[in-house]
Amino acid sequence: MSSHEKSKRSPSGAVIAPIELSTTFTRDADGTYPGGYFYTRHGNPNREQLEDALCSLEGGATAIAFASGTAASMAAFLSQSSGDHVLLPQECYHGTQEMMRQIFPRWGLSFDLVDMTHIETVQEAVRPNTRLIWVETPSNPRLRLSDLAALSTIAKKAKATLLCDNTFATPLNQNPLKFGCDLVLHSTTKYLNGHSDVLGGVLVAREQGALSERIRSIQICGGAVPSPFDCWLTMRGMATMSLRVQTQCASAEKIAKFLGGHRQIERVHYPSLTSHPQYLLAKTQMRSGGGLLSFEVKGGESAALAFVAAVRNLHRATSLGGVETLIEHRASMEGPNTRTPRNLVRLAVGIEPTAELIADLDQALASLD
Ligand SMILES: Cc1ncc(COP(=O)(O)O)c(C=O)c1O
Repeated sequence: MSSHEKSKRSPSGAVIAPIELSTTFTRDADGTYPGGYFYTRHGNPNREQLEDALCSLEGGATAIAFASGTAASMAAFLSQSSGDHVLLPQECYHGTQEMMRQIFPRWGLSFDLVDMTHIETVQEAVRPNTRLIWVETPSNPRLRLSDLAALSTIAKKAKATLLCDNTFATPLNQNPLKFGCDLVLHSTTKYLNGHSDVLGGVLVAREQGALSERIRSIQICGGAVPSPFDCWLTMRGMATMSLRVQTQCASAEKIAKFLGGHRQIERVHYPSLTSHPQYLLAKTQMRSGGGLLSFEVKGGESAALAFVAAVRNLHRATSLGGVETLIEHRASMEGPNTRTPRNLVRLAVGIEPTAELIADLDQALASLD
């Protein structure tokens, strides 16, 4: 039942679903639970509304929500067994690699970092015990793409789960389950919530089965569940996602083109620029280049840092997907294992007028002269 149908059944007639903060639900004299809920870690109306909405956005069979994108990643790794091997992208959100490096080898998972943009390299990296292939497309921070349909063929042959972190693309721009992925991950902290005020994550499964049940049990037994208020806020953000994301994507593309023609810029990374190495794949797999881009500033790290220091209106902050534009020197954020070019700047475009954003970037670049 959609949240709309549910809210229509609210006894007060409220248009917006209420936030049900109760951690526990009453039981009838015969021991049954008339509302269908008994304890909020196991299930809560707000979480169910959020999971239903996320499931239908990605076209999955079931969605399992977590307290952060990181908790969703953790659940995906925990759904594997000791002795299993995982393929992770050489280039992806640095926290995913750090989690694997720091936690899972002690629990018996081995892993290799591979270039997910080269199908032959991925094929060669598969081992008999590879059970999870993790892909992030577009990738953080250079927006490199991976061919989901080709990776799905490899995963099926290997009897491995193919998971796509779809946080950057959003369900509006890319639906990995349609290309044969088994799981889609989102940090709902980003575009889905869209207001930089709630952490959240989700795993959407293509099929209901042993894997999704294992992840559901990790959600409930592990307890990293989102609060009813967090679910409600995320639902509120999702109501405007298509408006926000369309604006962000259109603006990002214009900014990418502006930067691509600027003499102080060495390289722009954005999937729908014809200069992008996988421009043709972007056309078949994505509906738009997305709301995030990165670029390399001429003059190395010092020039990139000076440029970021010179912006006047953009926020110098990490993260993405919010209504305000965020700019960051990425390598200094990612810690000692970073492979990010030292002159790379990441721009998460908000919904401010594009001309104002370009004017601020332009004056900051002019300050480097
Ligand atoms: C692509 C991607 N996946 C996962 C995460 C982790 O999400 P969270 O910060 O909600 O734990 C992030 C966070 O930046 C991300 O950018």
